[in-house]
Amino acid sequence: MSKSKVTATEYSTYRGLPPLAGLTTMARAVECHWSVEQSTERLKRFHYVLKCMYETLTARITAEPVYELKTAMSHHAYLCAEYTTAIRRRVSEMRVPPLGLDVVPHESLKLLMDEILAAPTTEELVSGVYEILVPALLEASHRLQSDAHPLADAPTVRLAKLMHFEFSEVAEFGKKAVACLISMQHRDAMLPWTELLRLCLASAGGVDGALSIEDTAPPQPQHSATPYQYRKEPKRDERFQDSYNAGVNPEAFLYDERFSPRDKTLMMYYKRLREIDVPEMMASILYDLRDEEPWEFHMEMSRQLWDEARHAMMGEVGFVSLGIDWSKIPINFTWSRNLNLQLDARERHGVLFFIEQGLMPRTGKRYEWEVGRESGDGLSGMFQDFDWADEVLHAQIGRRWYVPRYKSLQEALAYGDRCWTKVMSGWHAYRDQGLTTHRNWWPDLYLEACERWNVPPDPLALSYNTTYEDSRADLQRLTS
Ligand SMILES: [Fe+2]
Ligand SMILES: [Fe+2]
Repeated sequence: MSKSKVTATEYSTYRGLPPLAGLTTMARAVECHWSVEQSTERLKRFHYVLKCMYETLTARITAEPVYELKTAMSHHAYLCAEYTTAIRRRVSEMRVPPLGLDVVPHESLKLLMDEILAAPTTEELVSGVYEILVPALLEASHRLQSDAHPLADAPTVRLAKLMHFEFSEVAEFGKKAVACLISMQHRDAMLPWTELLRLCLASAGGVDGALSIEDTAPPQPQHSATPYQYRKEPKRDERFQDSYNAGVNPEAFLYDERFSPRDKTLMMYYKRLREIDVPEMMASILYDLRDEEPWEFHMEMSRQLWDEARHAMMGEVGFVSLGIDWSKIPINFTWSRNLNLQLDARERHGVLFFIEQGLMPRTGKRYEWEVGRESGDGLSGMFQDFDWADEVLHAQIGRRWYVPRYKSLQEALAYGDRCWTKVMSGWHAYRDQGLTTHRNWWPDLYLEACERWNVPPDPLALSYNTTYEDSRADLQRLTS
């Protein structure tokens, strides 16, 4: 007796369990309109766009004045780097050699990315990235989720889902940022340019090339007609006052046993917030070495850059928790400024490694965690706990990507130390040029904190008046 044919919709599993490991329905699984080639072609386009977006967001961190954008761009650049890495791995599993990952997949996509990199203002950058590019990425990752075969190409579907999930949060941030920063006048003024970006996408068939291509004249460059120039001078928004001020040396206070752990938490919150200068400086290394180092270097360094932005935000949160307005404190930017203007990328990397390696001994990050833990300020203890963990990771990243260029660890460290020593701190020059008076901001901050804590100030701590005039952050004496 012949059995009647069971259709995919009628197919039943053992006691009605979900079929196919929960990936999809049998009705969808029997469809066969997908191939390794199609999947790889789409992934390569995502790869191109995400890698360019990582490069653009990173390059723009230094000269972007708005702190909330600097930190968000650090985060979003890191996400782009994560998905670039995941896509490279997936493409390498697809029988085709991963060669071709650096090929431009479509001239209009290249123009789109070049234009966004060259966006002349914050408003144009925000609009280009968050109003046009990110929504297009979201759409394309949604399409990939439904077009890729859920069983045969399950690893790609998973990647598309994760990407969609995380970039939805990026899009949400972007929507709010646009509402806060872009007025109707801005919108009118940049209309020809945003139209160009939309035209680029239409002419490329979307990020993934899956949309039907509009038959229009090839789009022509506007902002990218002049090649993009990286701006290496850090910029800050108007809440950052007196940024040349190096009138208070927080490290000397932190390592002085006469002061209490509670008072030291203020210096640690200051040091954390000041770390916004690390992304400003690291961005210049990543931009300058963009073609000289392999992708894995960028992946790891972008994680480190994002961690440093998080450390700055931990400082911000610390001050907010105490009810202190941090904008009254000069958040110095001369470390990133001096390094970016005086050293080349390899020298800057040397200084970064030398400093991070110096944070590892007992007097470094462990000490800061112990101070936080003993201070009675739970937030400080917790932040220093994670800050220490992050810095251990950063020292390892340095050992992987910086040290092998030198004969030994000692030589690598000595080079970094020499590079830092040759940086002119500009302490006197900045004062003489009228850029700062190096006002001692500590007593005002300390008195305000004592009020919040409801404790009398320690007279010795209140009289603290040590500057950076003749020392640097690792307490080495400056020779010049
Ligand atoms: Fe840090
Ligand atoms: Fe670090």
